[in-house]
Amino acid sequence: MAAIRKVVFPVAGLGTRFLPATKSTPKEMLPIVDKPLIQYGVEEAVEAGADSLVFITSRKKHSISDHFDTAFELETRLEKGGKLAQLALVQGALPAGVRRAHVPQHQPLGLGHAVLCGRDAVGDEAFGVILADDLIKGTALGALGQMVQVYKETGCSVLAVEEVEPDQTNRYGIVSTSPHGRRTEKVDAIVEKPDPADAPSNLAVVGRYILTPRIFDLLEQTTPGAGGEIQLTDAIAALLQEETVLCYRFDGKRYDCGSKLGFVQATVEYALEHEELKDRTLEYLRDLVAGD
Ligand code: G1P
Repeated sequence: MAAIRKVVFPVAGLGTRFLPATKSTPKEMLPIVDKPLIQYGVEEAVEAGADSLVFITSRKKHSISDHFDTAFELETRLEKGGKLAQLALVQGALPAGVRRAHVPQHQPLGLGHAVLCGRDAVGDEAFGVILADDLIKGTALGALGQMVQVYKETGCSVLAVEEVEPDQTNRYGIVSTSPHGRRTEKVDAIVEKPDPADAPSNLAVVGRYILTPRIFDLLEQTTPGAGGEIQLTDAIAALLQEETVLCYRFDGKRYDCGSKLGFVQATVEYALEHEELKDRTLEYLRDLVAGD
């Protein structure tokens, strides 16, 4: 099966779980140590082989497109000042040869609607979706890259999943499955944000998807579901009536950076791996816990 070239980033959400920080800044621009969440997502997509990024944005999200644009004044100043390491960081936000498109989502009608807005930019091919506030630290390879391998072997849509606490099912799309491979399972049913009492399992979809283009036709027909929104989950439920849909237990650790606690955890753990910061961060945390 061919590679996945295009990845859709729905970034038009209101970020209500993170106010007031997200009043004027998109949640995807919140930094973990020194990079905004969206950049981690872009790096994961490019590592997975994508060369075409589609950002589904609202009117307020200029900072995302600015982040990946040339910053002429800043770059000139860094170059003149001989600050070449910083210059490389600024210029490397979007790797060479990677194209991007920004598609407006005029109304916040839900994740399914956001993905549907990417239809013309994606065309008739399978594509990835990354929800950048789910930050995933992969091991040897990022989560999307691992899923691309599954797609290449099977040609099926692939959803990233992990087990969550049973009382948390009402925050996720939840799947019921039957056996398939070592890390893959066949999705038999999927339901958006069920109450724990009604949840078919505690296996939750997290923010990575590979979808066949049939999903667009199904999204066109999807009516508002949970929370009154057009849910991607509902279109996937229709898709699996027609095609095999797999879910994949990725190798790595996910941080829910749309929540305050997840954001703090990611910040601490990424600092503990950051070349410049790790030793001092560890010392600081040890002293803090020891009460020094
Ligand atoms: C969305 C999806 C949900 C999925 C979750 C992963 O929900 O609708 O199925 O489990 O992302 O983060 P949201 O977090 O946008 O409410």
